[in-house]
Amino acid sequence: MSRLTGKVAFITGAARGQGRSHAIRLAQEGADIIATDICGQIESVPYPMGTWDDLAQTVDAVEALDRRIIASQTDVRDYEATKRALDDAVAQFGRLDVVSANAGVCTIARSQDMSGEAWRDVIDTNLSGVWHTAKVAIPHLIAGGRGGSIVITSSVGGLMAMPNLSSYVASKHGVVGLMRTLALELAPHSIRVNTILPTQVETPMIINDASLRFFLPDSERPTVDEFARVSQQMLALPIPWVQPLDISNALLFLASDEARYITGITLPVDGGMLIK
Ligand SMILES: NC(=O)c1ccc[n+]([C@@H]2O[C@H](COP(=O)([O-])OP(=O)(O)OC[C@H]3O[C@@H](n4cnc5c(N)ncnc54)[C@H](O)[C@@H]3O)[C@@H](O)[C@H]2O)c1
Repeated sequence: MSRLTGKVAFITGAARGQGRSHAIRLAQEGADIIATDICGQIESVPYPMGTWDDLAQTVDAVEALDRRIIASQTDVRDYEATKRALDDAVAQFGRLDVVSANAGVCTIARSQDMSGEAWRDVIDTNLSGVWHTAKVAIPHLIAGGRGGSIVITSSVGGLMAMPNLSSYVASKHGVVGLMRTLALELAPHSIRVNTILPTQVETPMIINDASLRFFLPDSERPTVDEFARVSQQMLALPIPWVQPLDISNALLFLASDEARYITGITLPVDGGMLIK
């Protein structure tokens, strides 16, 4: 029997990158999937975000595994829309067991130069959006009476400082505090709440021109190969970054009964970055 047979998982930011990988990995283990994504651009974000076509590819990949998926274009900044999307999908699937609060964005600027819009867009998505995701999911998890697992994607920036990423780092520290509070509030219901802290993950969030310029400020034409060398110096293991699947496997563990007594943790998947 697979590790999530008969269970239903809600994943935000599921159009591409880690979110799509999570949908596929959890579906491989038997879960049906509720997938949302903004499928559109937030103006202050300096790289292209997920699209409807991307989300359609996630749908195809999950259906190819013979699992069910309900996908919708939903912005986690919009509490009512997020609630509607989840309520409708849970009404169809009949239960909810796992939540992956994965949707996130990043903007880059020195704190004193950052626009209010760029600050708010990151906090609204990465912090308030995670709270919205938990808030709409908790009543379903409690009503199910079977416990559950909420996994929030933070970042190594949830525990360490990173210059020129203040809104991102503040949001990722913020969800660690939110996770710890939720873990205490929900423990009596056997609902576990944990965070994963990835280092650089090879997704469009970091493999893009704005990010290359950020990591390689002195390079006239920064390349991915150059970035890989710089990125590797930040990790302890001899790798430049991890893959979405590495994060999905951590999510799968925290979502499964193998982690049944694990709650309130910050789990780095960081190639040793935090100990350097
Ligand atoms: N890639 C990295 O290096 C890295 C490192 C640490 C943490 N993270 C975190 O991992 C998570 C996943 O990022 P990724 O690497 O897959 O990036 P990504 O940009 O490839 O995917 C993020 C997805 O979230 C969606 N999204 C963004 N804002 C949204 C909103 N308001 N509502 C709904 N959907 C929204 C995007 O459209 C996109 O499809 C994020 O929380 C990110 O902060 C990423």
